[in-house]
This record gives sequence, C-alpha cells and structure tokens, in this order.
Amino acid sequence: MSAPTRTVAVVLAGGIGVRVGLGIPKQLIKIAGKAIVEHTLESLQASDLIDEIVIMMNAASIGELDHLLTGGQFPKLTRVLPGGETRSDTTQLALAALDGDDTKVLLHDAVRPFIDHRIIHDCVAALDSYDAVDTAIPSADTIIRLGETGHIDDIPDRSRLRRGQTPQAFRLGTIRRAYELAREDPDFRATDDCGVVFRYLPDVPIFVVDGTAENMKVTEPIDIHIADKLFQLQSASLALDTRAETLPDLGGKSVVVFGGSYGIGQSVVTLAERAGARVHEFSRSTTGTDVRNADDIQKALDEVAASEGRIDVVVVTAGLLRVQELVDAPLDGLIETIDTNLVAPVVIARQSFEHLHRTGGQMLLFTSSSYTRGRAGYGVYSATKAGVVNLTQALSEEWADAGVRINCINPQRTHTPMRTAAFGDEPAGTLLAADDVARVTLNVAASDLTGQVVTVQVAAMRHDDVSA
Ligand code: CTP
Repeated sequence: MSAPTRTVAVVLAGGIGVRVGLGIPKQLIKIAGKAIVEHTLESLQASDLIDEIVIMMNAASIGELDHLLTGGQFPKLTRVLPGGETRSDTTQLALAALDGDDTKVLLHDAVRPFIDHRIIHDCVAALDSYDAVDTAIPSADTIIRLGETGHIDDIPDRSRLRRGQTPQAFRLGTIRRAYELAREDPDFRATDDCGVVFRYLPDVPIFVVDGTAENMKVTEPIDIHIADKLFQLQSASLALDTRAETLPDLGGKSVVVFGGSYGIGQSVVTLAERAGARVHEFSRSTTGTDVRNADDIQKALDEVAASEGRIDVVVVTAGLLRVQELVDAPLDGLIETIDTNLVAPVVIARQSFEHLHRTGGQMLLFTSSSYTRGRAGYGVYSATKAGVVNLTQALSEEWADAGVRINCINPQRTHTPMRTAAFGDEPAGTLLAADDVARVTLNVAASDLTGQVVTVQVAAMRHDDVSA
C-alpha cells in the first residue's frame, strides 16, 4: 500500500485588485472584521481533507500576513510566499514550491472567501478518478460573443455554458506538465489553470464539480457590499438556529451586563446564568451605576475582574426610547437619550477593552431596526442606534488583531417594558419575547463572529405562529 496522498491548498493572493480600486490589495480588505484572505484561510483550515496550506501573496504586501504564520490559529499554513506578475506566474511559483507528482493541489483564489466544505470535498474526491477538476456554476445571463466589429457573432447554447470558479484541483504532476508545455509556447496566455491543462494536455479530461453562487470572486466595488451582506446572512442563520431553544455552554465564562435590571438585559442575565456563566449585572436602579460615567464603569469592571479573575463578555442593554417629535421634545431628554444609547457604549467599550483583551473576549451592543432608516417620532433614538452599528463595525476592525470581538444584536419589536411604555399594547404574536432575544445574544457570545449585526426577527423565531 502506498502512503496516503497529501492534499495541499494554494491560496492565490498575488494580485492587487485594480478593479476594486481601494488602494490596498483587495484580499486585505476587511469584511466582517477580518481580511478577505483570512476568511478564505479559515474555511480551508477547517476542512479535514486539507493537509497543508500555502499562500502566494502580492510581494509588496507580503509582510501584512506574517501574523497568520505565528498566531497559532492556522496550523496547516506552512508558508507565505511571494506571488508573480500575472496569475499564471503566481501558480507556477506555487507549483515550484511543492513536491510529489501525486500530491493533490487545490488552487483557490484568495478573494473567494465563501468556499464551503462541500466544494472542497467534491474537488478532493474527484481527484481520485481525474487528474484535473474545475468548479463551475450555470450562467443565469445569456452569454453573447462579439465579433471583430463589436456586433454579436455567436450566442452559444446557455444550457451548456458554465461560469468557472475556483478551486481548480489537480494532481501536481499533471498541472506541472501542462505549464512546462505552455512555457514553450510564445503565444501563451491564460486567466485560469484548467485552461492551461485544456490547451496543452487536450487528452486529460477535466471533471467539473458544482460551485455555488456564494463562491463569488470579489472583483468589482459592488462585490464588497455583496460579500458583506453574505457574511450577515451567515450570522442570520445563527439567529435562526436558536428556535431550538438550546443554550450554548458558557461554563467558566464571566459575563457583565450593563442595564440588566429589566427587559432584554434581565433575560440575558437569567439565561447566561442558566448557560453556566458567572454573571454580574450593573444598572442605575440596582447598583447605582451610571453607564455614561467612565469612573462608574471602571469600578464595576474592576470589581468583577477582582472577584472572578476574568471578564469574557460585556453586554450593554441599557437604552432609552421616548416617542416625541424633535421640536416638541425637551432638550435635556434628547441629550439623555444620546448619552444613554451612544455615549454609554463608547465609554463602556473603552473601559472594557483591556479586560476583554486578556481573555480574547467579546462585547455585545444592541441596535434597533430603525438604524437603517430614521423614523418620525424617534429620530434621535434612530440616530444613536445607527451610531451603535457604526461603532461595532469600526471597533471590530480596531480590535481584530488583539483578538477581541464585538457584535451588535438587532432585535425587532420585542416585548419589553420600554416598548410598551413607548407604543402601548401591541398584538401578541407580532412581538419577540425578551428570552428569545437573550438566547440569540448568548449564541452570538459563544460564536467567532465579529463586526456583525445579527437581526432577530419575529418571523424567524415564531415561525409557526405568524401566518399573516
Ligand atoms: N492573483 C495572483 N497573482 C497575480 C494576479 C492575481 O495570485 N499576479 C490572484 C488574485 O490575488 C486573486 C485571484 O488571482 O485572488 C483572482 O484574480 P483577479 O480577480 O483578477 O485579481 P486581481 O488581479 O487582484 O484583480 P484586478 O484584475 O482587478 O487587478
């Protein structure tokens, strides 16, 4: 019996991303708190089918990835090597760095962060029967071909057309041989690696596995927004999972809740304790803590750090909602809303960072669905909630290298004393229960997410009750 074949994933990150045009290589753009290439790396690291990962990085920015080799988070990552002038140059440099004709190689674009386990599995498995494998999806658009004059010269049958993605997977000996032949061709040009096998080794059949729409390549500026939304959808599925009413295991964790005396905060306290955490609650009514006051916050955090020895999660549920049009509202009430809803999260974030840095912990803030669009009658509230989202996104980037995460829960219409005071009684079944929101909050607390707005919807949580 021969030794099992090694499978190496090569992350192609040698490009610049001229079309995205942000002035940094696009694989380094941060989405959901991490560089795109890191998301890609996480998916490859998580696969049992991959033994080793090599990154081919744009030479001018190669130092930016040094921390990935030393952080311990990516044990399969063995090398970060400089890429080449063109994508094919980068591939060839990678091939030169690998050994063994039988080795299975997956060449994957760094800027396709949504590669999933099924695609990886299908590519690796197909290499047991084939020497070359492509990943592709059907084309929704009709593809037209232009002639020399710029007019349509052909409309190929769409049912047989596919859009090529990556990974493209090969037995190392095969892709090497294809490139050896290509190098002898003075007219050689290629935008992908299967194309090189197709052209220079026409007898080698290339198997095609199904890609996914999510496995998109971040190419144009709009793709950044799409990728951001796709990461948000991933976090939305986390919210959906909580319908099972299970709680994550928070045993050994120390959780601090600011504003936990009633409503969602109170539910977070109760359920976090049930999930095994040691929980400390601070609010004006219970401990006399003013969440806008840095000294009060420092005192509260120091007290918990002294008694528990650690702080893993800091939750801020304190909030004010008063319904009144701006010109009718007393100014001090408006200022109090800004102070409680926005200044307090800023102060608490600033004071909590060092504690969370020690534990690789997480901060959780609360926004409202009005953050995307201000609503008449509570414009200042909406504005503070938009501010909380921006703060979450910014801090997720500032704190990423320190390993501190921050997320924002967006509970839609929750049955709380604050809501009833503002809007009166509303029909049952259209409101979330505070415990449902708390359960999602704790699931996010137990997750690796950062920089996300996790929306909790009535329709998602109360699936069976909502028919209208
Ligand atoms: N790539 C590479 N080496 C190059 C050029 C590209 O490894 N010399 C990689 C890119 O980093 C990317 C993948 O190939 O992960 C897909 O290429 P493309 O989207 O064309 O990336 P860029 O060349 O960076 O983009 P642009 O053409 O907009 O500059």
